[in-house]
Amino acid sequence: MQKEFKFDSELTVNRLGYGTMQLPGKGVWGPATDAKQAANVITTAIDNGVNFIDTADSYGPFYANLYLKDALQQRPNSQVMVATKVGFTRQGPNQWTAVGNPAYLRQQVELNLFSLGLDHLDLLQLHRIDPNFTIEEQVGELAAMQKEGKIKHIGLSQVSVEQLKAAQKVAPIVSVQNRYNLVDRADEAVLNYAEQQHIAFIPWFPLATGKLTSGDTLSEIAAKYDAEPAQIALAWLLKRSDVILPIPGTSNPEHVKQNIAAQEIELADVDFAALNQLNK
Ligand SMILES: NC(=O)c1ccc[n+]([C@@H]2O[C@H](COP(=O)([O-])OP(=O)(O)OC[C@H]3O[C@@H](n4cnc5c(N)ncnc54)[C@H](OP(=O)(O)O)[C@@H]3O)[C@@H](O)[C@H]2O)c1
Repeated sequence: MQKEFKFDSELTVNRLGYGTMQLPGKGVWGPATDAKQAANVITTAIDNGVNFIDTADSYGPFYANLYLKDALQQRPNSQVMVATKVGFTRQGPNQWTAVGNPAYLRQQVELNLFSLGLDHLDLLQLHRIDPNFTIEEQVGELAAMQKEGKIKHIGLSQVSVEQLKAAQKVAPIVSVQNRYNLVDRADEAVLNYAEQQHIAFIPWFPLATGKLTSGDTLSEIAAKYDAEPAQIALAWLLKRSDVILPIPGTSNPEHVKQNIAAQEIELADVDFAALNQLNK
């Protein structure tokens, strides 16, 4: 099992990353109850070896990026690869509307740079493909900003194999972020295609929003490794494919440490097989 994933000659990251979506207020809307604590969760992740952090302008909106900016400024030599996203607008708690108008995507790239305090984005993911615009228009605008040096790599989120192939005709795609975990493997075909192409597959909801932090089979196997069920769910993802980069979200520094420690667990084949049976 590879511990790292290589994006290019300069960017190699630990496969176990962190996602910022749990940091803003309820429904991923508004500020965290404690902004200092939110930044502290991120510095804890960095201090424990995380160097791949997923965020988005739409988380808060912007609050998650501001906490990340604060954390990065506290750890100026950390060399964290930031993966952010554009293409979702927000109307209130738990409300998300895709907007792929190229002018809007361009504005959001600029606002991500500003809110994160960065001069370029290592990985910019299109959060959703907006059916009102073509893939050429949406990915094409990101490719233009790549040529301008504002974006290093382009990724996609929640796409089919066909959409991924269509986007690859417009620009090189280095990552795809789709919902995937131990009990939700609807996008197995996308994962298999990503593996063939050495595209990073970033599973969102890696813990099924917390459902995979308990359960009989997970708890039984966790006991064998003196681990927590959440760590076993993450270890399963790491073993499933070397292109998988899990980004578990948490607002709890202790959970951050626990999740990162999951990369030390090498599941035995027999346990991996037992966990495979949990797919619904
Ligand atoms: N591309 C997309 O469309 C998309 C959609 C959703 C999410 N994402 C990204 O994927 C990341 C992960 O998804 P997610 O955060 O929504 O869901 P998740 O990682 O599946 O689960 C997060 C939940 O698990 C709990 N948790 C985390 N670690 C734990 C541990 N060790 N023990 C017990 N509970 C634990 C958290 O609660 P506590 O805070 O109490 O730890 C939180 O309630 C997000 O942060 C975001 O970056 C992307």
